[in-house]
Amino acid sequence: MTPQIRNLVREVSLEPRNLVWPLFVHRGDEPEPIGSMPGQLRHSMDSLLAAADYAAELGLGGVMVFGVLPQEEKNATGTGAYDEHGLVQEAIRRIKDRRPDLLVMADTCLCEYTSHGHCGIVRNDTVDNDATLQLLAKTAVSQASAGADVVAPSAMMDGQVAAIRNALDQSGFVNVPILSYAVKYASAFYGPFRDAADSAPSFGDRSSYQMDPAGGYWDALREARIDDQEGADMLMVKPALPYMDILPLLKQRYDKPLAAYHVSGEYAMIKAAAQNGWIDERRVVLEALNALRRAGAQFVLTYYAPQAAEWLG
Ligand code: PBG
Repeated sequence: MTPQIRNLVREVSLEPRNLVWPLFVHRGDEPEPIGSMPGQLRHSMDSLLAAADYAAELGLGGVMVFGVLPQEEKNATGTGAYDEHGLVQEAIRRIKDRRPDLLVMADTCLCEYTSHGHCGIVRNDTVDNDATLQLLAKTAVSQASAGADVVAPSAMMDGQVAAIRNALDQSGFVNVPILSYAVKYASAFYGPFRDAADSAPSFGDRSSYQMDPAGGYWDALREARIDDQEGADMLMVKPALPYMDILPLLKQRYDKPLAAYHVSGEYAMIKAAAQNGWIDERRVVLEALNALRRAGAQFVLTYYAPQAAEWLG
């Protein structure tokens, strides 16, 4: 096939607006490299704002902000997650002040703020689903008040989408949409993120609330259906490439925008191989992102967002 014919018949497009860049912010005055995610930083407030400028100039679809708290600021109930003047809330406020045109998403979860690293409150060594719901709702409201354009619950608590929708509506944020991490697996591919955010659980794992990789289609469909019915505006599958079969499954059934999260481990694997000279980084990244678009994702959250946007020119 000639380039002209390829150009004529190509169905899938990939543009910077299809990419969302996850960003970490910490308390320090200096940005800090993340060992297992070469090229990504724990940003200082200043470098975060510079990253936001860069994202806006590249025409990215948006950014998603994660807070990295020092251990001494974490506690059993993760109060840092819903503190009106918390790290993430302040970061969102500053980005929106400076770049009102840049879409800002907030990850709504407790694991970066709890001393035990679980995504909810722990009672008798297990996560208390129902007690966690109101804290997630408070977290989402605090993020929307700070100016978040989208909230993205990722804790995998049952009923979290409904609880958040209710709380947002009652606080006047009827127009803030929910991007639900609807189908989120208990995945080892989150390893580098947990280094970055220092959020690995101090005991046990997340398999009681995140999904079983061997769970099958019905499991995925049930999770998506519940979040759809609870009022999610957009649905996400996470991780991305290992679960690419789930995207068309949801695409066929739900008339809602679909996202894929190309997670930290997926990023780290490509980086490591590229740094060894074993693969062509640019081609591999664009191939993966195009494949996710083809599978049905309107947008992809990826640490490669700015670099991919540069490559797309
Ligand atoms: C918070 C959250 C996690 C990720 C996104 N939101 C960590 C987890 O569930 O353990 C992981 C993202 C990545 O690996 O890039 N719950």
